[in-house]
Amino acid sequence: MSFLPKPHGGKLIQAFDPYYEFKHIEKEIEIDAVALSDLELIGVGLFSPLTGFLGKADYESVVSNMRLADDTVWSIPVTLPVSYETAATLETGDLIKLVFNKEVYGVIKVSEWFKPDLDKEALEVYKTQEIAHPGVKRLYERGSVYVAGEVTLVKKPEKGVFSDVWLEPKETRALFEEKGWKTVVGFQTRNPIHRAHEYIQKAALETVDGLFVNPLVGETKSDDIPADVRLKSYRVLLENYYPIERVQLGVYPAAMRYAGPREAIFHAIARKNFGCTHFIVGRDHAGVGNYYGTYDAQHIFGQFTEEQLGIKPLFFEHSFYCNKCEGMASDKTCPHSNEDRVILSGTRVRELLRSGTLPPSTFSRKEVVEVLIEGMKEEVTV
Ligand code: ADX
Repeated sequence: MSFLPKPHGGKLIQAFDPYYEFKHIEKEIEIDAVALSDLELIGVGLFSPLTGFLGKADYESVVSNMRLADDTVWSIPVTLPVSYETAATLETGDLIKLVFNKEVYGVIKVSEWFKPDLDKEALEVYKTQEIAHPGVKRLYERGSVYVAGEVTLVKKPEKGVFSDVWLEPKETRALFEEKGWKTVVGFQTRNPIHRAHEYIQKAALETVDGLFVNPLVGETKSDDIPADVRLKSYRVLLENYYPIERVQLGVYPAAMRYAGPREAIFHAIARKNFGCTHFIVGRDHAGVGNYYGTYDAQHIFGQFTEEQLGIKPLFFEHSFYCNKCEGMASDKTCPHSNEDRVILSGTRVRELLRSGTLPPSTFSRKEVVEVLIEGMKEEVTV
């Protein structure tokens, strides 16, 4: 008997077919890196119950109600945008190759195409129409018509340095079972793991069987630390400071949307598909700039029942090292003032790293910082 949660919608979608015969298909659509990632993640079931890119009814329902048309909770539209010119060549029922860098990765069976209300999507999903928001910028830059239909993934993108940690939901589920974990907490990050991240992960691990460290390695904004550099830092941190028998590292290959609260729900659902029973949501989860309140991404969970989500969020307050407490703490546990607390913004940390300056070890472990500084140097010289 499995203790792991059922995949979202009840069944793990498996739409990968490397033997799919597509040579006879003539029409093709050039897709971008985000669509390639979405295609793969639909194919391997990380986005279960999605079997393809959203049709109009599902899209409108997700945008307005955070639910698919059949009422299943779904908070971020997964869509395939194309230009008007491409849309003009489409016919319902068409099979179309999905091409990235001249390679065919998938096939879509076109069920419909429609013109989305991008202004509404921006406002509902991202809570702003400002293109200073990286998710909104991408939304407006991508195509103007959305093509919907079921997809088959025919080829998986190369994994490079990520190959040993690029685990599909069916693999993570088998691993968690094998380890005998009945409760597993998932942790999302698009950053290196600093002391505050470590603190909340380990606090969670005190109450569950396993920790799934699951950093996002899909598309991020250009000033975020590159995923390959981060990966090295995760490896060194886990080797030195984590109980390996209770921790699993695996990447989350989705594009970052920076949609704050809505993305926290999306992240939780994907982690449920990986087999997690719990999911960490801390301060300003998936946020950017000042678009969301510090705890909005926690409050949004109040809109759904535990049954509807099928994964339990674990909420954490803003955490920091306090010099007076001589340890990690949060407002919940520390009576001291901000002057005693080591608090650095992400931007400030990236500035320090790029200039080769070590942030204090109370902010980030020395081994992590060294890997990051080295990695950033290489990035700059490439
Ligand atoms: S995110 O965009 O991937 O959410 P980040 O890597 O900063 O960004 O955060 C990863 C997770 O750790 C999120 O759940 C976030 O809320 C949480 N988090 C980050 N920093 C802190 C902190 N200082 N205190 C508490 N939670 C934090």
